[in-house]
Amino acid sequence: MTRMTAEGDVRVDDVAIRFKGKDGPVTALDRTTLRLRPGTFTALIGPSGCGKSTLMNAIGGFVAPSGGAITIDGAEVTGPSAKVGVIFQQYALFPWFTALGNVRFALRRFGLPRAQEIERAHAALAEVGLGAHAGKFPQQLSGGMKQRVAIARTFACGPKVLLMDEPFGALDAQTRLGMHDLLMGVWQKHRATVLFVTHDVDEALLLADDVHVMSQAPGRLIRQYHLPQPRPRAFNRSGSELLDIREEILGLLRPEGVLAAIH
Ligand SMILES: Nc1ncnc2c1ncn2[C@@H]1O[C@H](COP(=O)(O)OP(=O)(O)OP(=O)(O)O)[C@@H](O)[C@H]1O
Ligand SMILES: [Mg+2]
Repeated sequence: MTRMTAEGDVRVDDVAIRFKGKDGPVTALDRTTLRLRPGTFTALIGPSGCGKSTLMNAIGGFVAPSGGAITIDGAEVTGPSAKVGVIFQQYALFPWFTALGNVRFALRRFGLPRAQEIERAHAALAEVGLGAHAGKFPQQLSGGMKQRVAIARTFACGPKVLLMDEPFGALDAQTRLGMHDLLMGVWQKHRATVLFVTHDVDEALLLADDVHVMSQAPGRLIRQYHLPQPRPRAFNRSGSELLDIREEILGLLRPEGVLAAIH
């Protein structure tokens, strides 16, 4: 069942981010304005080093903007919040906990009675198809399975906003396709507002409601697409429109394409 929510409204208002470099300040993100509508899935795509992770880290409250403001549901982001879940490319599981232990660790902040915490952790693992692997340690799990534990752990905490930084970048193509189906299923059930960073144009087009393309460093948003096509999507079934957009984005990501879009 789909649960619609008006929570998870993310606004990035004229945000720029500069870091101290050894030869002076480095602009990691040029002035950027962006809205993530509640419950929608937004993909962010752009060349390496353009500031995708920096933007995501700012929304997560791990990096402070040098200018502008970020709000979630009207409240300015000043640090990490329980409302926001984060999934990185590297699995970031505790090796000394089992799959179940990793999910339980994340649930600790709720102070649930032990039996309830265990039940909720089992339910989260079952949701990602890992019901039979709850007792395994990360080193006994494949890359895809580890990332499924990370997804279970994050959704178990009921985030309103979910930030995913190339979460499937380390997986082979076949596993990645399975992860897309799985993520869509879990997301459509829980409906967090998702920001998904990827290098893979096809991944963005198959998953997202909105796709934002960034320029080369210092990055800024240069093109936005709204994709109303129903899911599950496929390039052959969804008609030529997705293919046209794919060509356009690939053109934008070529260095000369980025220049043309800016000037
Ligand atoms: N903590 C930091 N201190 C100094 N410079 C940083 C810091 N974090 C990022 N940068 C710089 O900011 C720029 C943007 O980095 P960022 O990691 O956001 O890029 P990205 O788009 O995520 O790249 P990739 O696709 O390779 O992951 C880069 O030039 C990077 O070197
Ligand atoms: Mg990055």
